[in-house]
Amino acid sequence: MKWKRSNNCGELRLKDCNKEVILMGWVDSWRDHGGLRFIDIRDRYGITQLVFSPEKNPQSYNVAKKLRREYVIAIKGKVASRPKGMANPNLKTGEIEILVEDIEILNESKTTPFQVSGYTEATEELRLKYRYLDLRRPELQRNFLIRHRMYQSVRRYFDREGFVEIETPFLMKSTPEGARDYLVPSRIFKGWFYALPQSPQTYKQILMISGFDKYFQIVKCFRDEDLRIDRQPEFTQIDMEMSFVDENDVFKVVEGLMTTLFKDVLNREIETPFPRLTYQEAIKFYGTDKPDLRWDMPITEVSDIVKECEFKVFSETVKKGGIVCGISARGLAGLSRKEVDNLSKYVQQKELKGLVSIKIGNEISSILTKFLSEAEINKIIEKFSAKEGDLILLAADKKEDVLPAIGALRLEILKRFKFPVKREYVHLWVTEFPLFEYNEEEKRWDSTHHPFTSPDLNDIEYLERDPSRVRSKAYDLVLNGSEIASGSIRIWKRDLQEKIFKVLNLKKEEAEKKFGFLLKAFEYGAPPHGGIAFGFDRMVMIFCGTDSIRDVIAFPKTNKAYSLMEECPSEVSKNQLDELGIRIVNEER
Ligand code: AMO
Repeated sequence: MKWKRSNNCGELRLKDCNKEVILMGWVDSWRDHGGLRFIDIRDRYGITQLVFSPEKNPQSYNVAKKLRREYVIAIKGKVASRPKGMANPNLKTGEIEILVEDIEILNESKTTPFQVSGYTEATEELRLKYRYLDLRRPELQRNFLIRHRMYQSVRRYFDREGFVEIETPFLMKSTPEGARDYLVPSRIFKGWFYALPQSPQTYKQILMISGFDKYFQIVKCFRDEDLRIDRQPEFTQIDMEMSFVDENDVFKVVEGLMTTLFKDVLNREIETPFPRLTYQEAIKFYGTDKPDLRWDMPITEVSDIVKECEFKVFSETVKKGGIVCGISARGLAGLSRKEVDNLSKYVQQKELKGLVSIKIGNEISSILTKFLSEAEINKIIEKFSAKEGDLILLAADKKEDVLPAIGALRLEILKRFKFPVKREYVHLWVTEFPLFEYNEEEKRWDSTHHPFTSPDLNDIEYLERDPSRVRSKAYDLVLNGSEIASGSIRIWKRDLQEKIFKVLNLKKEEAEKKFGFLLKAFEYGAPPHGGIAFGFDRMVMIFCGTDSIRDVIAFPKTNKAYSLMEECPSEVSKNQLDELGIRIVNEER
């Protein structure tokens, strides 16, 4: 490299005219016009137009003729204002161009498997294989700049609030968080394994016992679970824990963090405190524990109105212990029969039998008019607060089947018919989760969150009698229908922790083997404590406005947890295996 870069490709403006500059970057595109060659040079800061003239500078012009996309170049030239009418308002540098005096090709590039600049139709597979080119695209670079700003804002906030950043081990003892562990074999203790942390849960509790009072960490977590659009095998949490607190103290810190992030990164004001729903309410009104409250349209139950009615599908369901409920879609009374049928098909995919509609036009149009009295139908309409022009959709089934299906239908309708959102970002706390959920397959109780979550002390009496009734001190933060954080007030006494292990059917010796260190620590002055962990990648997704977690993780895995770029996981040498005392018995892939 014979020169030193004087400016980046996004910063020159009219005020820089006549300056001699040296730019370096990638060839984004070129075109010939009026006997001149124009080249757009790109770096992460922007794009600048270069002009090569065969008359004024034949040598550089000849080099420019050889350039191809993604060549890396250095140019020396003078900043000039673009001729009248030629400014490009879509570019920050659109009012200027560089009249090139000299050029050096720093590196050539093969023809790239997909175009870096502009819209790409390349498959995600190809983009992941050539991730370095994918990451060169301005759309992705923007996501990582947002992510960067978020890290900085989070660190500044916690520091200001008196939290201490402490790293915890990646090689740890296996602690269940509901997923399978990634295991790392020990060379020194052959046949023994470390687990990669599913979260730093036990460490952060121990840090409270050590008296750190307020801890945070931006930390990688590893879970071997089925992957989805918002799940990766390794992902990042913002983890935090506080001593001598109750739920409201944690909520306040979290609301402060969200306010700071929205202000710092998106320059937005958000409203606090965030609204709260109990788990029971969330399920009852939205059919999910992560309701998207950017829209209204709650689920309404009408079982009491139809329990005796002539329409057997409804009355029989209620008699059998099920419910009849639905939603009222504002302004959709004009939907064609086909469109309503399509919505029925949608809930059929969710295992419901179908939908019954009430169209409120000039008159009421519904199959129900044959079976229900006018008064009964009016009662239903009233319960929904529906008006002329609205469409009520009802379904009947077991509570646990119909609520999630109607909850999904609600979102489908809101999105399919493009209902305007109330606000662009809507937060919600969901509280009072049940402490346990029954695992039908294994015929046992599992923790809804994790085994260290404190029960609501008012429900302790049900621990043995009826675990399903025990509420927990767990809470989730939901943003736009995505669970972005989850936490709880913890158990901090050994005897209560042992009781919970007992409900979870964890034998005393097994609990001792797995969690003895934590139980022992509880015996040396554990303070009451609680905390939360944010799914940082999910937050970044929302801040960037993308649907895929892979757009905000620099080197993500496919949904088979495979890295296409470096082709991993992969075989290791026999020597490595021998050292670890490992023999492969099944090579099925
Ligand atoms: P939890 O398991 O709910 O809680 O995780 C906290 C948050 O992390 C995010 N998350 C994920 N993001 C991407 N890919 C994944 N595979 C993935 N799994 C979880 C979610 C989730 O809300 N130790 C507790 C926290 C606590 O109690 O303080 C825990 O890890 O956004």
